[in-house]
Amino acid sequence: MSDLNQATLTAGDKSVALPVLKPTLGNDCADISKLTKETGLFTYDSGFTATASCKSAITYIDGDKGVLLYRGYPIEQLAEKSSFIEVAYLLLNGERPGADQLKAFEAELSKEATVDDSINALIGSFGKDAHPMAILAASIAQLSAKYHNSLDLNDAAQRYQAAVRLIAKLPTLAALIYRHGKGLNLNAPDTSLDYVSRFLKQTFESADGKYDLNPNIVKALDVLLILHADHEQNASTSTVRGVGSTGANPYASVAAGVTALWGPAHGGANEAVLKMLEEIGTADKVEDAVAKAKDKNSHFRLMGFGHRVYKNFDPRAKIISVMTQKVLAELGVNDPLLEVAVKLEQAALQDDYFVARKLYPNVDFYSGIIYKALQIPTELFTVMFALGRTPGWVSHWLEQQTDPEMKIVRPRQIYTGSPVRDY
Ligand code: ACO
Repeated sequence: MSDLNQATLTAGDKSVALPVLKPTLGNDCADISKLTKETGLFTYDSGFTATASCKSAITYIDGDKGVLLYRGYPIEQLAEKSSFIEVAYLLLNGERPGADQLKAFEAELSKEATVDDSINALIGSFGKDAHPMAILAASIAQLSAKYHNSLDLNDAAQRYQAAVRLIAKLPTLAALIYRHGKGLNLNAPDTSLDYVSRFLKQTFESADGKYDLNPNIVKALDVLLILHADHEQNASTSTVRGVGSTGANPYASVAAGVTALWGPAHGGANEAVLKMLEEIGTADKVEDAVAKAKDKNSHFRLMGFGHRVYKNFDPRAKIISVMTQKVLAELGVNDPLLEVAVKLEQAALQDDYFVARKLYPNVDFYSGIIYKALQIPTELFTVMFALGRTPGWVSHWLEQQTDPEMKIVRPRQIYTGSPVRDY
C-alpha cells in the first residue's frame, strides 16, 4: 500500500483524476471506470496482466514473496492443520467452522453426493476413450438441467445449496468418469465415508465393493485438494465469474470453468508434465529437454514451469515437492520419473534462461507424480484439479452474486480489421 490516493492521467489537453483504491493487502489499483466517459479512451491490457476485474475477500497471492492465503490463512498452515472439507467451508463462508458446523457440513456433502440415472446414462453415452474433462464438463452442465428450473438465484439459501451440491457431486462424477473409461460398472458413492475416502472407494472398489483405504493415501490426497482449492482470479475462476456475470446458473458457470481449466497453460499442465517426463524418459536426457525449451524455434515448453503471478516460487509447489518424497517412501513406490523431475528442476533452476525469466516449478510440476503414485491415471489428473478447485469456483460465484458493483463482463477491443467498405 502507498499513500497515493489519486493518480492523474493526462490525455492531450485533458487531465483525469483516477481514484486509487486500497486493498487490505497487495497493489493499489487506479480506478479507470470513468476514464472512457471523460476522455473517450479505452485501456489495453491483453491477458489482464495488470487489471483487477473485481473486488474479492477470498484469496490473496503475493507472487514475488510466494505467499498464498485463503481467507487470510497461509496455505502452509492449512496444508498442515486443516482438511479439504474445512477449507471448502472456510472459502465458502469466510470463517473456519466450529466442530458442529463442520459435522453438519460433512453430513450435507454426504447427502448430496449421489447422482441420478440421467448422469450415469450421459457418462455411459461417451466413448471409452473420450477425454475425462469433456465428460466432466458435460456432466456438470447436465446438473443444470436437473436443478436449474427450481433454482431462484435471488434466494441466498438456494444459492448456497447449489454451491454445496457442486462440491458434493464432483468426486462422484470423477469416480464415474474413471470407471466408465475402464469399462467398470457405474457404482454409487458410499455415503458413510468421509469426502476423500468416498471418492477413493467409489473410484477403485472391486466388483464386490471392496477397497482397502490407506490412511496415507487419504491424507496425501486431502492435502493435494487443499493446495488446489482456490487461486483468486486465475483463468478458470475468471471464466466462472464471466459466465456468472450474465446471470447463468452456477452449474453452467462451473462447467465453463472446467473447460477453461482443461488447457495445458492452466490445469491441463499436470497431465502435460507427466507426459513430458515420460517422453524425456531418463535423467541423462534432461539437458536436451532444457535446450529444447529454450529454443524459440521449437514450440516445446517445460510444463509445470512458470506462472503468471508467482515470480519467485509457488508455495504450493514447495509443499508438494516435500510431500512427493514422503508419499513415495510411505507407499514404497520407486518411480524413475521422480529422478527425471528432480534433475529437470535442478537444471532449470541453474539455467540463465529460466532464472532471467523467473520461471520456477509451479503446483503442477510434482502433483502428477503423486497422483501417479496414488494410482490415479494420467488422463484423470486435470479432473482431480477440478475437484480440488470447485470450492474456489463456487465461492467466487457466491461472492459475485452479492457484489453491488458486479457488472456483466464485457471487455472492449482494439479493432484491427478493414475500415468500412462497400459490398
Ligand atoms: N518453458 C520455457 N519457456 C517459458 C515457459 C516454460 N514453461 N514459461 C514461460 N516461458 C518463457 C516464454 O517463452 C517467454 O519468453 P520470452 O520473454 O523470451 O518471450 C517468457 O518466459 C514469459 O512467458 P509468458 O508466456 O509471457 O508468461 P505468462 O505469464 O503469460 O505465462 C504460463 C505463464 C502460461 C504459466 C507459462 O509460464 C507456461 O506456459 N508454463 C507452462 C505450462 C504450465 O506449467 N502451466 C501451469 C500454470 S499453473 C496452473 O495453472 C496451476
